[in-house]
Amino acid sequence: MHDQFYTDTVIEHFKYPRNIGRMSDADGEGMYGDPGCGDFLTIYIKVANKVIQDISFLIFGCAAAIATSSMITELAKGKTIEAAMKITEDDVVKALGGLPEDKKHCSNLGVKALRSAIEDCNYRKVRDNME
Ligand code: FES
Repeated sequence: MHDQFYTDTVIEHFKYPRNIGRMSDADGEGMYGDPGCGDFLTIYIKVANKVIQDISFLIFGCAAAIATSSMITELAKGKTIEAAMKITEDDVVKALGGLPEDKKHCSNLGVKALRSAIEDCNYRKVRDNME
């Protein structure tokens, strides 16, 4: 694990982020911002049979925030919403081969925004069933 430098995987995800873009027909949308640095992330999910079929994101953030957001979309895609809810900051950092200590907090954005998108999806399903 690297303690001070970005791994090749982090740099690759920063340069070529996966699943980037707005999703106009999302089933759930989650946002999370870090008031300390001003970075802000929105995650969109498309869910069928309780499985995340598609996922995308938009971000205003640092290199680590872009890489961690890209990685969490890769980790969540194809997972059940239950399993996706359990993805942790550590899972994201490990999948990237590590992050410098002072950048580990950047992985919060993806985890929090993903959980918020899943909660939004669950809320919309309940709401739609009540109408
Ligand atoms: Fe704010 Fe990276 S410095 S998320």
